[in-house]
This record gives sequence, C-alpha cells and structure tokens, in this order.
Amino acid sequence: MNTITAAITAVGGYVPDFVLSNKVLETMVDTNDEWITTRTGIKERRILKDADKGTSYLAIKAAQDLIAKANIDPLEIDMVIMATATPDMLVASTGVFVATEIGAVNAFAYDLQAACSSFLYGMSTAAAYVQSGRYKKVLLIGADKMSSIVDYTDRATCIIFGDGAGAVLFEPNYEGLGLQDEYLRSDGVGRDFLKIPAGGSLIPASEDTVKNRQHNIMQDGKTVFKYAVTNMADASELILQRNNLTNQDVDWLVPHQANKRIIDATAGRLELEESKVLVNIERYGNTTSGTLPLVLYDFEKQLKKGDNIILAAFGGGFTWGSIYLKWAYDKK
Ligand code: UT7
Repeated sequence: MNTITAAITAVGGYVPDFVLSNKVLETMVDTNDEWITTRTGIKERRILKDADKGTSYLAIKAAQDLIAKANIDPLEIDMVIMATATPDMLVASTGVFVATEIGAVNAFAYDLQAACSSFLYGMSTAAAYVQSGRYKKVLLIGADKMSSIVDYTDRATCIIFGDGAGAVLFEPNYEGLGLQDEYLRSDGVGRDFLKIPAGGSLIPASEDTVKNRQHNIMQDGKTVFKYAVTNMADASELILQRNNLTNQDVDWLVPHQANKRIIDATAGRLELEESKVLVNIERYGNTTSGTLPLVLYDFEKQLKKGDNIILAAFGGGFTWGSIYLKWAYDKK
C-alpha cells in the first residue's frame, strides 16, 4: 500500500512523585474520600511541588522517556507540538523551550491550547502533517501542571485535578495503520462554564483579579458534566457508525480522564464491556492534556498491532471529539 497514514510509533510518560490523596484533601477542604471516590472515581493525584518548575519540566521528562525507550535521535524530530492549558508563561511558547531542552534543535515547535481536548486536537494536527508527507517525525506532548491554577480552597475543583505529562511520536505508516478517522467539534457556548477568567487580554492581571482568585480555574461542574456526557458519547458513537464498527470491533476505549461517571456513560452508550475501557483516573485525577497519552503510556503493553482504539475527550471552550486509531506496534 503506497498511501501514507500517520501512526503512533512510541509513547513516553511522566508524573511527579508527590501523591496528594483524598485523605490529605480531607484536611484541606470540607470533603471526604467517599464523596470524591463515588462522584469522580479519583483516589489520588500527583503534584509537582517544586516552586521553580513549570509544565515544561513535566513535558521534558515525558519526551525524554520516549526518546530513551524508543532510541530516537532528537535531531531527527521535525516538529514538536506542545498540547497544554498551563504553559510556563503566555509568551514565549513552552513547546519551543521543551524542543530545545530535549535536543530537538532541528524541529520547530509551538503550543496548542484547547483545554482538556488539547491532546486530541494535537493528534489531528500531528497526523495531518505526517499524512501529507511534509514531515516524518512529529512529537506530540500533552502536559499540564494543573496545581498551578487550582484554588486549593475550592472543594469543587481542587479534588479533580493533578499534574502529569505524556508524549507520543507520529511517523508515516505504509500498512494502513494509525489515525483512521476523526470527529472534532467546538462550541463557544461553553466559555463561561469552565475558565480562568483573568490574566489574558480581556481581564489583565491586577490587584483585584488576584484578590478575587480570578487566576484560578473556575468550573460550573454540573453543566460541564452534562455537556461532557452527551458530547463524548455522541462523538464516539458517530465515529463507530461512520467506520462501520460494532462494539465487537473495538478493542479499546481511551477516554479523557475527567470523571469516572463520564467515562462509564460513554462506554455504556457504545455498549463496551468494562475490560475494554482503559482507566487510570484513580491514580492521577484529571491531568487535562496529559490524560490520553498517560493512558497509552500506562497500558502500552496491552495494545497490540492492528488493535482498533477509540479515543474521546471533552473540555473547556467547549471542545470535544473522538478519534479512531489503529495501533501500529507490539511492545517488546
Ligand atoms: O476535564 C474537563 C471537563 N471537566 C469535567 O468533565 C468535569 C465535569 N464535572 C464533574 O465531574 C462533576 O460535576 C464534579 C465532580 C465537579 C461535581 O460532581 P457533581 O455530582 O456534579 O456534584 P455537584 O456539583 O452537583 O454537587 C453536589 C453536592 C453539592 O452540595 P449540595 O448543594 O447538594 O448541598 C456540593 O456543594 O456536593 C457538594 N460538593 C462536595 N461535597 C463534598 C461539591 N464538591 C464537594 C466535595 N466534597 N469535594
């Protein structure tokens, strides 16, 4: 087959050592392990404690893990896409710094921000560059230091998020493996339901914005939950239908890890058995851009060449979608 498809050929990951458990959160805000576990499925999350380290640190670690494991020469990387909602700073681009630090000095790099869908959208971009024949090695990193924007006095958000990063390499494939189809959507109706209100051009930082905690993430959880359940399930179902896949044809569902109940609802709509649904939310919480690659990282050994994988995400904006991928290798 001469057609070029874009396949993931390597995966890396990194989470910081510090564990923030539900039990510890009980001492910080008015919450309890039982509430968090039943409402979200989360037991603990990882936090990057070092005050002098930003998201780039997580991203560099995940990329270096991939480079070492897959024995990649960083000089051969053509492009680095940094999917993140928590860049080190608004200007300059975090991806540029990360690319240089990992030795990908022949690559160009930039950041891609679509909240919790950043990595999913990044897959589309990375794959398009490879399919077109323009570039041969595109490194896509999803990383977020969510602890830098979480208000640890707000029990409705601080229990959800964690820090983490994952990375994948996209390369050309000539066997028809890799990205098969995508359905990506966005809707500005979501802008007010999940946001960091200040610090951008609309409401620049001021004494008041700091006082009013407007640099922290704010979420209307109930509304986001409703949209997430409907849209993630709709997008995944649509991808199955238009590729003539039944639930039997799907080997794995790789869902964004925002809430176990949202994952269960998506899996339920597809009528997938539980063993096909890849979940690690109990250990990391919602790492935003990090969730999808961290799932691939954690379950890499189970993925077999030719497996049909459905990825799905939903995030602020609103942004959401689903991608159908054929896995391209067996892990040695
Ligand atoms: O990844 C990006 C997209 N984000 C998401 O997908 C997140 C979507 N939303 C959610 O996951 C859920 O809405 C939450 C986990 C954030 C909240 O769960 P919920 O079942 O929607 O709870 P709720 O906000 O409706 O709150 C129910 C009750 C409230 O008390 P009252 O008003 O019924 O007395 C809350 O004040 O639970 C209370 N509550 C808590 N109780 C103990 C809220 N947070 C907590 C908490 N511990 N941490």
